[in-house]
Amino acid sequence: MSNYKITVLPGDGIGPEICREAVRVLEAVESRFKVRFGFQYGLIGGAAIEATGESYPADTHLLCQSCDAILFGAIGDPRYDNNPNATVRPEQGLLSMRSQLGLFANIRPVKVWPELVEESPLKPERIAGADLVVVRELTGGLYFGQPRELRDEDQTAVDTCLYSVDEITRITRVAFRLARQRRKKVTLVDKANVLETSRLWRRVVTVIASEYPDVELDYLFVDNAAMQLIINPSRFDVLLTENLFGDILSDEASVISGSIGLLPSASIGDGVALYEPIHGSWPEGAGKNIANPLATILSVAMMLRMSLNEPVAADAIEKAVEETIRKGVLTPDLNRQHPSGTREVGEQVAKRILKG
Ligand code: IPM
Ligand code: MG
Repeated sequence: MSNYKITVLPGDGIGPEICREAVRVLEAVESRFKVRFGFQYGLIGGAAIEATGESYPADTHLLCQSCDAILFGAIGDPRYDNNPNATVRPEQGLLSMRSQLGLFANIRPVKVWPELVEESPLKPERIAGADLVVVRELTGGLYFGQPRELRDEDQTAVDTCLYSVDEITRITRVAFRLARQRRKKVTLVDKANVLETSRLWRRVVTVIASEYPDVELDYLFVDNAAMQLIINPSRFDVLLTENLFGDILSDEASVISGSIGLLPSASIGDGVALYEPIHGSWPEGAGKNIANPLATILSVAMMLRMSLNEPVAADAIEKAVEETIRKGVLTPDLNRQHPSGTREVGEQVAKRILKG
């Protein structure tokens, strides 16, 4: 029997309800396989600000450091979005956590589920067979570079895009190692025709690529990449890019799957890793039993495979999700005619895991 301690950070908006379904699925995994999970819950984001005044409290950081993997829901609360006086913001909690845990690589797989090909606004013949992974740098670039401030009595603002050779090197290795397990192709997405940081990325990635002669490397400017993702997504295998470009392109790429509610992700570094859906907190949908839990459920499958070395259990979850999709037991984002609730989708996946 293997025992794993999981830190669950439900966060804001729909975060708590989608995490509840992912935990339900892990409990089904316990019943079927020789694994046991101990869940410890922590506060982050708006929920944490409410309770403690801080978006990523020290207690939460301790929980994150003392576990085998972290499950995170979502962050963001509209009460802070248009409030220029807000000094603490929910999103800062997520950024602090990524930075303090050293989670520099964000892995976001995107694929087409054949049953859902009609759900994508893109033409089926364009997206058929698309299967790519965005490898997004997560602790550098414009999100963290200093200085970042208002100047001239708030008449000017500055953010800084900063990358070091070391930061680029470590994420590049993640991308090439991943490519080796897939179709052996890395596309570096940058803006090297304009940005100095992008030129550094090109130089460093090109050098590292020579250590992986079996992996093909090509380059795309980010504006062109945004277009290629829509007109020819199957040209991509591993899409390697910096923080902000990765944020934008991964939302765009979710359109290929038919719903952003299907996209899981893993954030990894040198220590404990974090698993989260790529979508946000969708405050308008919170508490209504309409949020799609599948991205979070697929994130725990990634957790089992990547952090806990339980590939058989991970396969069982993915198979159960596939069957659930095939049966059409789906939330309104994917089934407008006969929608199921968040809970019903979670229960359906859990039931199918138990059945085997
Ligand atoms: C994401 C989100 C976050 C980001 C926000 C909530 C800070 O959009 O994980 O993609 O920009 O990284
Ligand atoms: Mg985003």
